[in-house]
Amino acid sequence: MVQIKQSIKLYNQNCLDALKEIESESVDLILTDPPYNLGNFMRGRQTNLKKMRDNFFGDAGWDDMEFEEWIQSMHLYFEQAHRVLKKKGSMIMFMSLLRVESIVKIASKHNFYYKTTGVWHKKNPMPRNMNLHFINSTEGWLYFVVKGRTGTFNNEGKAIHDFIETALSPTGEKKYGGHPTQKPESLFEHFIKLLTNEDDVVLDPFMGSGTAGVVSKKTNRKFIGIEINEDYFQRATLRINDIEKNCYKLTSFNSQEMR
Ligand SMILES: C[S@@+](CC[C@H](N)C(=O)[O-])C[C@H]1O[C@@H](n2cnc3c(N)ncnc32)[C@H](O)[C@@H]1O
Repeated sequence: MVQIKQSIKLYNQNCLDALKEIESESVDLILTDPPYNLGNFMRGRQTNLKKMRDNFFGDAGWDDMEFEEWIQSMHLYFEQAHRVLKKKGSMIMFMSLLRVESIVKIASKHNFYYKTTGVWHKKNPMPRNMNLHFINSTEGWLYFVVKGRTGTFNNEGKAIHDFIETALSPTGEKKYGGHPTQKPESLFEHFIKLLTNEDDVVLDPFMGSGTAGVVSKKTNRKFIGIEINEDYFQRATLRINDIEKNCYKLTSFNSQEMR
C-alpha cells in the first residue's frame, strides 16, 4: 500500500444535512454502513444479550429510530446519494439481511439499479450463547449503480463472488478507541479497489471510526466522510490523520477543501 497526499473532507454532522453541501455528480463510490434499525427490534427480543444490545444497538444512541422514521431517513439519504454520485458511480451499503428488502425498495424509488445482495462472513465472531443458537457471523451488503450505468469493476478477468470472508478488525485498527461495529480495513479495501481507481472520490456518510477514510488514503483515493457522533468523529479524524498528516477537519461552519 502507498501513502500519498490527497484531499479529504470530514464532516461532524448529520449526513442528511452534510450531503447537501456536496457537489452533484462528484462521487465515484459510496461505501457505507448505516444504522440497521435493529435497536428497537433487539429490545423486544427474548434474549439475555443485554450487554450486546447496549453496546451495539439502540442504547448506543445511533440505532434507536422507530421503523417508519428510519425508512423516511433512508429515503432522504438515497435522494442525496443519487444526486452526489456520478452517472457511472456505485454504492455498496452494508445492511442487516432482515432489512435488505426495505432498502432495495427505497433505492429503486430513487433511481438506483439494484445489482447484488452479498454476504460478509466474519471468521472470528464472539461465540455468544453457542449452545442455544447459530452464531451470528454474517452481515449483508448491497451493490447498486445509478440506473442503467455500470461503472468501474476492476475484476481483472477474475470471477468475483458475492461472498467475502475476513476476520473482525484487529486491535491495531482500534488504536484510537474503535467503534462497536467497526469494519475491518481488508473488507473495505476489497470494495474500494474493485469499484474505484486511484484519485477517484469515495464517500462514507456514516463513517464511524473512519475505516473507509483510512483505506481510501492508503489506496490513493480521495475521501469524504460524515459522522454525527462527536466522539467517533474525533477518533476517525485521529485515525485518518495517523495515515496522512495533511488531513483537515471540515464542518459546516468552516468548510474548505485542502490538500
Ligand atoms: C454502523 S456504524 C459505521 C461503522 C463504520 N463503518 C466503521 O468501520 O467504523 C454507523 C455510524 O453512523 C453514525 N450515524 C448514525 N446516523 C447518522 C447520521 N444521520 N449522519 C451521520 N452519521 C450517522 C453513527 O454514529 C455510527 O457511528
